[in-house]
Amino acid sequence: MSRVYNFSAGPAVLPEEVLKEAADEMLDYQGSGMSVMEMSHRSKVYDKIIKDAEADLRELMNIPDNYKVLFLQGGASQQFAMIPMNLMKNGVADYIVTGQWAKKAYQEAQKYGKVNCIASSADKTFSYIPDCSDLPVSEDADYVYICENNTIYGTKFKELPNTKGKTLVADVSSCFLSEPVDVTKYGVIYGGVQKNIGPAGVVIVIIREDLITEDVLPGTPTMLTYKTHADADSLYNTPPCYGIYICGKVFKWLKKRGGLAAMKEYNEKKAAILYNYLDQSKMFHGTVEPASRSLMNVPFVTGDKDLDAKFVKEAEAAGLVNLKGHRTVGGMRASIYNAMPIEGVEALVAFMKKFEEENL
Ligand SMILES: Cc1ncc(COP(=O)(O)O)c(C=O)c1O
Repeated sequence: MSRVYNFSAGPAVLPEEVLKEAADEMLDYQGSGMSVMEMSHRSKVYDKIIKDAEADLRELMNIPDNYKVLFLQGGASQQFAMIPMNLMKNGVADYIVTGQWAKKAYQEAQKYGKVNCIASSADKTFSYIPDCSDLPVSEDADYVYICENNTIYGTKFKELPNTKGKTLVADVSSCFLSEPVDVTKYGVIYGGVQKNIGPAGVVIVIIREDLITEDVLPGTPTMLTYKTHADADSLYNTPPCYGIYICGKVFKWLKKRGGLAAMKEYNEKKAAILYNYLDQSKMFHGTVEPASRSLMNVPFVTGDKDLDAKFVKEAEAAGLVNLKGHRTVGGMRASIYNAMPIEGVEALVAFMKKFEEENL
């Protein structure tokens, strides 16, 4: 067996320990005589899997009792519609557009009401997070929406926007569980798990209870109503059982490693190795304003497309894979999520140094 260092933006690297455990349990989950993939979601065995997953997530994020944790499907993209359908009581929402995912959410919401872009960093190719301390938040806005970590551009909100008392909704797909969060500052925190937590197919929504109502936009499907899933503890219909099981294992892995404060420290250490090198390299340059740099997604360029392509190709041959930047941006991007070991980042930087020496 040979594992590569996988810098994919998602689906992305998972902890090896978790994968091995899942492999061991593949044919016979803890004496049940079957795989988790084969068991009823209504069985006692599975009930413990999903309940433990929720309890561990609650512990990791210190989620207050007045928030529900929902394990849903449809990708993070489905939330782009589900959020306005469920939350737009006045038919108004404010969006902060800091990248393509925020823009997609903003565009989708326009189908359902009056949607304002109250801040954007499009003027500089989304390479920074705008000052959000005093934005023109709409008086009747049902919520203010952000994409907290911009996977494609590699920026992260270091401070949450001042929503002037309005409900904050955040897409945390690419920074989920990478550092401690104060859940009480949000109305909704959601993300696809395929970057920092588990296999694609699960979306976790953490939502304050008062936002879960029957008063949704007319025509909202049963399956896209938060209340449906909240009332049924995420078992209204068959959930993505196996994916949730792997998420649960990752939660336990995170707890064993010391929780989110320890992860933050580790992630800062990892990211610093790469950023420090980028800051002094004569060949590679980071594309993000230093104050807005993400700990999870690090885009960089040489400024020469052919050299970028050569780098990506040679890195791959050296076991450092998925370093090509997003198709809309070009260059390179290293995604260094929780499960990327520090050795992977060290190997990447050593390879970049060698490449620089050989090609400058
Ligand atoms: C921040 C962010 N939001 C949303 C998405 C879309 O996720 P999905 O493919 O699960 O719909 C992505 C995806 O890659 C993302 O990085």
